[in-house]
Amino acid sequence: MRLLKFSPWIGILVFAVAAFILGVISHSFLRGGASVADQNLGLVVGPLLKGPADPPVFAYWISGTGDEGQKMLRLLKAVYHPRNRYVLHLDAGSSALERINLAHSIQSERLFRAFRNVDVIGQNYAVDRTGPSILSATLHGAAVLLRLSADWDWFITLSSSDYPIMTQDDLLHVFTSLPRNLNFIDHTSDLGWKEYDRFDKIVVDPSLYMDKNSQLLISSGTRKTPDAFKIFTGSPWVILSRAFVEHCIHGSDNLPRKLLMYFANVAYSMESYFQTVICNSPEFQNTTVNTDLRYIVWDNPPGLEPLFLNQSYYKAMIKSRAAFARRFMEDDPVLKKVDKKILKRAQNGVGFGQWCSAQLKNNGEKTLKGDTCSSGVDINTVKPSPSAARLKSLVLELISEESLFSNQCKV
Ligand SMILES: *[C@@H]1O[C@H](CO)[C@@H](O)[C@H](O)[C@H]1NC(C)=O
Ligand SMILES: *[C@@H]1O[C@H](CO)[C@@H](O)[C@H](O)[C@H]1NC(C)=O
Repeated sequence: MRLLKFSPWIGILVFAVAAFILGVISHSFLRGGASVADQNLGLVVGPLLKGPADPPVFAYWISGTGDEGQKMLRLLKAVYHPRNRYVLHLDAGSSALERINLAHSIQSERLFRAFRNVDVIGQNYAVDRTGPSILSATLHGAAVLLRLSADWDWFITLSSSDYPIMTQDDLLHVFTSLPRNLNFIDHTSDLGWKEYDRFDKIVVDPSLYMDKNSQLLISSGTRKTPDAFKIFTGSPWVILSRAFVEHCIHGSDNLPRKLLMYFANVAYSMESYFQTVICNSPEFQNTTVNTDLRYIVWDNPPGLEPLFLNQSYYKAMIKSRAAFARRFMEDDPVLKKVDKKILKRAQNGVGFGQWCSAQLKNNGEKTLKGDTCSSGVDINTVKPSPSAARLKSLVLELISEESLFSNQCKV
């Protein structure tokens, strides 16, 4: 409960409702040895199996700001699988009402209630997406997820503008055969213009100490590029192994903490923190795969944010073999196409998953009605589609011996 406290001013009633809805629920439901029948759903759910041949478990951190509750909910449903864990955070750009509405929407989905694997951070704190406060929020998410569940293998960061371009079955299938210690981090030590513009400049992020989201303050002074460690930079979107997340959150090595302090005054520190920690940690260096597995399109010349994707990017998106794409506007028509053609997701449903294949209706779409999977839910079997073969071919290329070592933390 501690983790999910609302600010006191929101009031006791809200807290009581939220605590009821979102309490840090014991996850013995999925871990118990015996099958469990959920009274609400009438589902018969087998235990979560975690053998070497079983699919992994993903821990998703989904972050958003004001007016993004619906977008986050749609994304959550698009990446939903009962094996995984999900933690959502709406920052101080959102109102208390929006956060309550998001919590209510999640509470009113029978599936989420039955599997108890979705939580919302009740704390309302400020975040600046260009500053260290988003890094602090991401580490908070990682710490909450470590505490919520001992089962997950990979930590995946998403924002409300992201969307999957394959099903969870596809992603789980591809990751089943991968070593669980791999970290998917796009990185380079070639800092280019960033050396002066990012690392020599000193910024202060007021979102770290003010209630409301605030813009970065840029100091006129500069500092030297560090020589105690080598800076690496790349995409802010990562898929991290549990071992590496534990190293960053609870490790006894001082480097993750030292770098956190250093990056507290660096703009866009999400683009460099994990990269720099992993590439300066001999025990993790060899676990990096140099990719973020996202499809992102930059303008030419690149601006600070990538382009919004629409229908005209659909083919290129699929061809990219990536797992996720960004950025999307709310309800862009291309998302409907992804829902229909790839995720087999009905308007309010979750993405296709073999765990409840009985939900498939004649038109290939599915509903969230639990009673249609009353024949039993198997959360340990996934059914890959052709998207899985595409991702698999990409990942196999990236982790092939010649590619993997030659792209790891090169200086
Ligand atoms: C990482 O790879 C390098 C080069 O292949 C090797 O020399 C080193 O021992 C490896 N480190 C660990 C911790 O396995
Ligand atoms: C898609 O986005 C691009 C670039 O943002 C724009 O030029 C194009 O007109 C858009 N196409 C559609 C179908 O909306």
